[in-house]
Amino acid sequence: MNNVDRRTLLVGGAGAVGLLGLGGLAACGQPGSGATVTPGAIRRAEDKRRKANQNVVNARLVAQPIAVNLGGLVVHTWGYGDSLPGPLLRANAGDLLRVKVDNKLSTSTSVHWHGIALRNDMDGVPGITQDPIKPGTRFTYEFTAPDPGTYFYHPHSGVQLDRGLYGVLVIDDPAEPGAYDDEWVVVLDDWIDGTGRTPDDVLKDLRSSGGSGQDSGHMGGMDMGSMGESMQSSILGGAGDIAYPHFLINGRTSGSPATLTGKPGQRVRIRIVNAGSDTAFRVALGGHQMTVTHSDGFPVEPVTTDALLIGMGERYDVTVTLRDGAFPLVASAEGKKGQGVAVVRTGAGREPGPDVHPAELDRSIVLSTDMKATDRVRLPARDVDRQHDLRLSGSMAPYRWKINGQTFPDTDPLVVHQGERVRLRFQNHSMMFHPMHVHGHTFGLTAGGARKDTVIVRPMQTVEVDLDANNPGQWATHCHNIYHAESGMMTTIRYEQ
Ligand code: C2O
Ligand code: CU
Repeated sequence: MNNVDRRTLLVGGAGAVGLLGLGGLAACGQPGSGATVTPGAIRRAEDKRRKANQNVVNARLVAQPIAVNLGGLVVHTWGYGDSLPGPLLRANAGDLLRVKVDNKLSTSTSVHWHGIALRNDMDGVPGITQDPIKPGTRFTYEFTAPDPGTYFYHPHSGVQLDRGLYGVLVIDDPAEPGAYDDEWVVVLDDWIDGTGRTPDDVLKDLRSSGGSGQDSGHMGGMDMGSMGESMQSSILGGAGDIAYPHFLINGRTSGSPATLTGKPGQRVRIRIVNAGSDTAFRVALGGHQMTVTHSDGFPVEPVTTDALLIGMGERYDVTVTLRDGAFPLVASAEGKKGQGVAVVRTGAGREPGPDVHPAELDRSIVLSTDMKATDRVRLPARDVDRQHDLRLSGSMAPYRWKINGQTFPDTDPLVVHQGERVRLRFQNHSMMFHPMHVHGHTFGLTAGGARKDTVIVRPMQTVEVDLDANNPGQWATHCHNIYHAESGMMTTIRYEQ
């Protein structure tokens, strides 16, 4: 048993939603609307995952317009329920999640369960796996969550993720030893909604600015997302395309930070999620080193570091041993101006200010490409049956991002067959970094690297990953810069018989 009683401190908004564990397996009543490929194969794959007496976890999400206080600043946005982030959802590996989603927005939406290798028709991608959830209607997602880890959920509709529509999904491992005293969930976000512009305005401006750089919210002027000279140097080369007015940790601005409270000497597991749309974050806890234990939910050989770089859609679990005092947990927007701040407090000490810059930010830093999977989750060595190259390119003017010269939905699917070992080679031919995400599967970086579902591909670099084609369907594969994905940088992996 886990010696942590599943406490989760989410300060500044979200709390754990009451999840009801119901013994017994209910019939799967969700037909799954929309276009699905080989529904029989999807059902068979799901049946294989299911155990007798599968536990059922019920939850409800209401997507709706809300006003949120980010700390002195009240913004009107869209969220799940009335908190930012949305409710924390939690289940055990192997449980059946049944989540009713009510759409109280004025536009269609969807919910994608980022990182979960679930049945294809529950993946939440309109146009690929389901029909959009129309305003005033409801859709029930029902799927088995096979692997423990830190995940998150968000719409797969336009740039809705860049509003307040995101929340964390933790899948616990009932067999995990849990060598820690407490747990914090830390969600990072870049924020513009309700500050005079919406993410849809931003996208429209990016598309119409023609690279003039005149747009106030735009990093502007430079080709292909390279950063302005005034910016702090970025290990990613490119910074992002949008200058955000705020960076949030757990829904709070750096001027009014969330506080995480602990005791000196405690070992805390921090689950860090980057829910940003256009920002990678450099994360450090002042006065502490962090030991990274998981990447995208899957265990890695522990690495101890001062700082961590986390791309959009990535998650890392780190363990820290708390010192006595008040310390800043800083998420610095890589290559941009600004940062998110939270305060870790175990005793007396002055509150860190919004511009605090812990020395750890400029010391050792790790990316997932520096990590190794643990023996248990390393992809077994095997010959590659099929290889797909994904050439990533794009431009700021016009604002278009491509995979293999194509923009979604005018793309040729990457065809795979059930049972194959597939190698994907992400070849970045642009000066911008791209966090590439594959739905429905966990890949392994080649040569025993981390098991993941989202990996940063730095400018002009290639990252190779392997996956086992064992989850039939049609799966979105895209850049997790949501503006890039919406401007073409998306394709599909398609199973063919
Ligand atoms: Cu967070 Cu298509 O993914
Ligand atoms: Cu991208």
